[in-house]
Amino acid sequence: MKTIRLSSSRPSDVRRAAALLKRGRLVAFATETVYGLGADAHNARAVLNIFRAKKRPAFDPLIVHVANGRQFESAAAEVSPLARRLARRFWPGPLTLIIPKSERIPDVVTAGLSTVAVRMPAHPCARKLLAAFGGPIAAPSANRFGCTSPTEAADVSDDLDGRIDAILDGGVSPLGIESTIVWPTGGEIILLRQGAVPVEALAKVARVRIRAHRPGEVGANGRSLLHPGELPTHYAPRTPMAVIDGAFSSFERSLPEGPRYGLLLYKPRRSGSRFARTLTLSADGDLAEAASKLFRSIRDLDRMTLDWIFAELPPRRDLGAAIRDRLVKAAGGRTASEAAAGLRQGASKTKETSRR
Ligand code: TXA
Ligand code: MG
Repeated sequence: MKTIRLSSSRPSDVRRAAALLKRGRLVAFATETVYGLGADAHNARAVLNIFRAKKRPAFDPLIVHVANGRQFESAAAEVSPLARRLARRFWPGPLTLIIPKSERIPDVVTAGLSTVAVRMPAHPCARKLLAAFGGPIAAPSANRFGCTSPTEAADVSDDLDGRIDAILDGGVSPLGIESTIVWPTGGEIILLRQGAVPVEALAKVARVRIRAHRPGEVGANGRSLLHPGELPTHYAPRTPMAVIDGAFSSFERSLPEGPRYGLLLYKPRRSGSRFARTLTLSADGDLAEAASKLFRSIRDLDRMTLDWIFAELPPRRDLGAAIRDRLVKAAGGRTASEAAAGLRQGASKTKETSRR
């Protein structure tokens, strides 16, 4: 299959993308968070193709993107006052709400759950496509399953060229990190994924307790609720990665010479010659800027033929929480001290062998 490139600034291209969706085809498009891989949310066969194209396991449910309140209500069996309040405050924008699912949404979209994830995106590219299509669009991030999320059309091409019908180019996704996913239920808000809406912003309007989702917690219809936080590795580059846990200077000294190391800093700091390449997320430690550059920088480092990528974690506050979550998962939970210990062991073995 040839993947055609369309531009959201050309109305005829937007119409063409919408026509493809109507025919059950797959179209990637820009949102303010990351690029999504869309299909007609009412067409089970089209949605099934999303899983195939991404190599995504069928147990991982998708987000339904809507243009307006009417489409939101139609995807939901019921909307609680709390869900409605959150939607009113944060939509259009990077918040995804988990709500009881209506029968109009096929089971493949929600992986058999009785709830559905819904989001009303703010980005003009997504909004134009939704308007031209005239219905809800199911879309996960437009990357291969488990890999780094795409923040521009070229990233989507790298992962999915030849596997999807079109990419509607809308430029760089400005926020650069996925939506926050919450499940307003039983008078509290369960946080399923940290994201572009910080918990601090949610807390200002929530008026109820916000708590983290407990791993293995049973979700709607008695099934264990799986979400991105429960997968140990996600957003991962091909190059092995680890997050810096202890003091930077002693970590740097602990690295054996030889391998090509990459360094992903949250803000500038002095570092020695151990690192072949260094990228910095924000010159003045601005968390929004850091979030917007996160996936781009991981992808760029991944292209630099490095043996290891070490990433510095930002503070936990505000968008820092979501950035930390992505970095820890991209590293598969590996810490730099574990990685360095392994590297030193490897280095001393190599020395022994060469001495013999
Ligand atoms: O910003 C975003 O959210 C982007 C853009 C494209 O909208 N989308 C995105 O989708 O990040 P995805 O599929 O990569 O991540 C959505 C996650 C899934 O991994 C899934 O586990 C969770 O949302 N999810 C979807 N439906 C759910 C449900 N009913 N209950 C719990 N989690 C759900
Ligand atoms: Mg994803």
